[in-house]
Amino acid sequence: MCGIVGYVGPREATEVLIEGLRRLEYRGYDSAGVAVMNGSGVQVRKAVGRLSALEKVLSGNGIHGGVGIGHTRWATHGVPNEVNSHPHISFDGKLSIIHNGIIENYRELKRELIEQGVTFKSDTDTEVVAHLIAKAFDGDLLHAVNAVLKRLRGAYAFAVCHNDQPDRIVATRMGSPLVIGLGDGENFIASDVPALLKYTRRVVFLEEGQLAEVTREGVKLFDSELKPVALKETTTSLTLDAAEKEGYEHFMLKEIHEQPHALAETIRGRIEGERVDLSELNLDAETLKGVNRIALLACGTSLYSAMVGKYLLERFTRIPTETWSASEFRYADPVIDPGMLVIAVSQSGETADTLEALRIVKAGGARTIAICNVMGSSIPRTVDGTLYTRAGPEIGVASTKAYTTQLAGFVLLAVGIGRMLGRTDEATEAKIVEGLRQLPGQTKALLDEDIVAVKRCAKRYKDVFNFMYIGRHFNYPTAMEGALKLKEISYIHAEGYAGGEMKHGPLALVEGTFPTIAIAPQGRTREKLISNVQEIKARKGVVVMLSTHGDEEARELADYLIEIPACEEELSPILAVIPLQLLAYYTATQLGRDVDKPRNLAKSVTVE
Ligand code: G6P
Repeated sequence: MCGIVGYVGPREATEVLIEGLRRLEYRGYDSAGVAVMNGSGVQVRKAVGRLSALEKVLSGNGIHGGVGIGHTRWATHGVPNEVNSHPHISFDGKLSIIHNGIIENYRELKRELIEQGVTFKSDTDTEVVAHLIAKAFDGDLLHAVNAVLKRLRGAYAFAVCHNDQPDRIVATRMGSPLVIGLGDGENFIASDVPALLKYTRRVVFLEEGQLAEVTREGVKLFDSELKPVALKETTTSLTLDAAEKEGYEHFMLKEIHEQPHALAETIRGRIEGERVDLSELNLDAETLKGVNRIALLACGTSLYSAMVGKYLLERFTRIPTETWSASEFRYADPVIDPGMLVIAVSQSGETADTLEALRIVKAGGARTIAICNVMGSSIPRTVDGTLYTRAGPEIGVASTKAYTTQLAGFVLLAVGIGRMLGRTDEATEAKIVEGLRQLPGQTKALLDEDIVAVKRCAKRYKDVFNFMYIGRHFNYPTAMEGALKLKEISYIHAEGYAGGEMKHGPLALVEGTFPTIAIAPQGRTREKLISNVQEIKARKGVVVMLSTHGDEEARELADYLIEIPACEEELSPILAVIPLQLLAYYTATQLGRDVDKPRNLAKSVTVE
């Protein structure tokens, strides 16, 4: 999983490449490199570590030219070192290539090349492709790339340059994203739109299997038979500001504070009076009556939103709903039937496991929907309809605003489907719609109020080794997500548990200094969770209570009290997770962690 960028035009290519790579570092950041063509061959610079290391190399040993490709890497084959970093160069020194994805059959191809006398420098799968294309090259790079694609299995987005055609980049994709930026006398390619925004907002999303030939003069697209394809140009509404920190110390904090706006955007146009309006999904009662079961597919934080989604869908639609980790689903020999409605949940729309699971259910004839944040990404392009969360770019690796907007998306979907099926009455719908309307304001109030208990807790417990989070029903997934936030950015071990399960094991961990965060807002399981807290208190555990404003019982029990505004219980996971995001954030910053880029992780997992 990596970020790729390419440039052809009158500027110094390295400047454009570095600017683009900076916007793509969220895709991987263990090494980076650029290759630039200037008529007298290709020059390459690479560095291990963050992009700043590459910038340092370039400042001491710059390269000049107007055609170039750049890469920021998240290692899959071969450790992060300079040799394994991209761009890779072919055996004859003439071809340079960058790659995002995995070539699954690279071992057999490598063996074949070694038998032909090719010497390999790196451990990567990508180098194989460099040599293959160089061998196939007979004066036309486009033809050579296309010929080699037929031999590859796996996922890829490539950008390739060749010394003998130094005015162009040939790019292609299959299973990994690639977007082309159109300029005036200059053109660009990138894994994602933010890399282009400084220069252009005119974009073309490359379809699976298409090839692009990019020169100063223009961009030509081809299908896999090399037949010309018309360019479908769009103008992105993303702004560069949206991709920057806007004065916040970290993207994560900025994104936490963007939640009121993000939620308002998700709801916008989808509630009308007292009703939910899902017309954009083209769902009708007739189709829905044929749905006998719903399956939710997701990974990571999106999986926890899907867990809440299950409860919401079952409550409002009464259709049996199952939640699957997409990576499990793929290999579980799942039962798929055409009566199944599958909802894939993904911030990026590029998570490899979710995408692949989706392809499996599509092949089985199921109807598919996505809840997704990134327009034009692979998952929305695979499904029958998408509910975009409109949260704006999420750069921090730890997901925040994408999560709460996914939850809002599920509320809309569940109530909307429930109403279409006649299983949610008008009064209930009106009540939830009113709750949704209040959400942005309530979220803002929660964020504006300096949550003192959160900061105190972060300070007091930053040095513990373990944290327990408990919740029930709608807020059981909140416990999982709260624990995930803490572990991914602070590196403190944390577990999310269903409150009722404490006595079946985890209670054994509780003693004097062991902290448990109990998520107990108003709702039908509140009392039950309070009983679980009593059991912890009886064993002298420390309890941070997260409850609804004015809950006196919670106040009495709590060692630390965090309060959220009163809301419908179906909406409470949206408000309850916000203090937990902040707790993770403040704990991590106290510990001096790299909040936006935690070790070993990446924002978008485009490999299995
Ligand atoms: C990575 C990210 C998580 C994200 C997960 C799923 O692990 O670090 O924040 O929840 O991928 O990504 P998706 O884009 O499919 O929601």
